[in-house]
Amino acid sequence: MLNNLQKEIIELKDKKNAIILAHNYQPSEIQEIADFIGDSLELCIKASEIENKDFVVFCGVDFMAETAAILNPDKKILIPEIRAECPMANMLSAEEVKIAKEKYPDAAVVLYVNTLAEAKAEADILATSSNALKVVESLKEDTILFGPDNNLASFVAVQTDKEIIAIPKGGHCYVHKMFHEGDVAFKKEKYPNSELLVHPECDKEVQNLGDAVLSTGGMISHVKNSPSKEFIIATEVDLITRINREIPEKQAIPLLDDAICKTMKLHSLEKVKKSLIEELYPVEVDAKIAKKSLNAIKKMIEVSK
Ligand code: 13P
Ligand code: SF4
Repeated sequence: MLNNLQKEIIELKDKKNAIILAHNYQPSEIQEIADFIGDSLELCIKASEIENKDFVVFCGVDFMAETAAILNPDKKILIPEIRAECPMANMLSAEEVKIAKEKYPDAAVVLYVNTLAEAKAEADILATSSNALKVVESLKEDTILFGPDNNLASFVAVQTDKEIIAIPKGGHCYVHKMFHEGDVAFKKEKYPNSELLVHPECDKEVQNLGDAVLSTGGMISHVKNSPSKEFIIATEVDLITRINREIPEKQAIPLLDDAICKTMKLHSLEKVKKSLIEELYPVEVDAKIAKKSLNAIKKMIEVSK
């Protein structure tokens, strides 16, 4: 049952001819009013297919809203809270990518979608946690510069014959770095029949203990299709609330209750309402940068479909 504020937002959204997109890490109350919830790749694909809408309200972090803006130059993209930034996306600047390209002129550049538009403009192709291996394998080059997430880079490196050079050294997600092997042992003792699903941004030691290493969207599909009933989930807590709301016959258990992406939680229903009324905050990308980065985004979507 939706509350009054949620109902008000849905009415407003229709009046403004807007669509609300939300990442899997959004709080439940926002997931419930979204037209579409997904992982980074699903959101990119959805953003590339929006027709006949004037506004896109993006409940996610900066790089996601920027990507939607690049894909929709004719629409107004709004982010309800301007401070919703992904710290990892700030770990790799366009300048650092240029320096790496000079050092390895024969390498292809694969950047995680968790980068800002200026860095994306320096990429040959983008990747997400659900398609990184496929993207790397689609390229003719044998050497790949891959950034900024070092754990995703090593997840790909062990599955390909290509040389993966991670840039920058130490690129990481602070949320997925919270998980340790001891946390797995602790939860496994309590839920011995459960499967462990791990996000590729987690450290290798935790990935190695997983029954599967998957993007957040991949985790949802896995839970739906697996005969198991219980799943320990090594990612952000609101992916777990989505699974438990949408697949009530299964049980998803967070590996850690405090694995919370703080900036994802800066959005709220009140801010979504304000965003629709006052058209806040518009996400704009410099036209030259947008044009350059659009190539890398489109290439990724082509490879992934
Ligand atoms: P997904 O694409 O798997 O949802 O991951 C996004 C992200 O930011 C993970 O921290
Ligand atoms: Fe960025 Fe990590 Fe938050 Fe994902 S969970 S948006 S990578 S800080």
